[in-house]
Amino acid sequence: MIKEKSQLPAIPLDLHGMEEIAQFFSTIIDTRSHFTANHSSGVSASAMKLAELLNMTSTECQEMRIAGYLHDLGKLAVPETIIEKPGNLDKDERDVMKSHTYHTYSILKEVKGLEKIAVWASFHHETLTGEGYPFHRSAKELPTGSRVMAVADIFTALTEDRPYRKGMEKKKVVEIFSEKVSEGKIDKNITDTLLDNYEEMDTVRSNAQKKHDVNLKIFWGRVKELSH
Ligand SMILES: [Fe+2]
Ligand SMILES: [Fe+2]
Repeated sequence: MIKEKSQLPAIPLDLHGMEEIAQFFSTIIDTRSHFTANHSSGVSASAMKLAELLNMTSTECQEMRIAGYLHDLGKLAVPETIIEKPGNLDKDERDVMKSHTYHTYSILKEVKGLEKIAVWASFHHETLTGEGYPFHRSAKELPTGSRVMAVADIFTALTEDRPYRKGMEKKKVVEIFSEKVSEGKIDKNITDTLLDNYEEMDTVRSNAQKKHDVNLKIFWGRVKELSH
């Protein structure tokens, strides 16, 4: 629509430009929920670090970072009354919340050049047992990037501080991951890589989330200045 209506020339983005746009989007996504105000930064940093530890190429590591920033993009389609609801969601609300991965996929798959990132970003709630969502993909339909994203998302969700609770301790996190591996839901090799490098992973995640908080403070400070 913008292309049709505007006279502006299209600007082709390289991977670095894409990363900046993705980071910008992640700020919008996270700002909508004070429960998970820096979640995407943590997932992005964890996914990229895991990709490095798994010896993925440097381009793939950067793509994992972009996919991490965008993995919850579809939450923009979930009403704020659900995103910000204190307490538990009911069944219908949970279903709407779960639709975020479908929306992430349906948006990203339309962007030329982002096909791989769309798959890596959107299938973070799929499981190797085929019981995940939104598409119940089976193990053979889930590439390494999507498996990394699933592990990075769980890791960040468990270890990050939220307004209503502190991040979980290592012992409990290891227990949860081991259980998920034994149920065949997540990739064993990727989980082992995470657990073998736990402290480094946790530092990378937490530093990225702290940096996000600082940048956001600076941003809102400038907005305040400008509005005076
Ligand atoms: Fe998600
Ligand atoms: Fe997430």
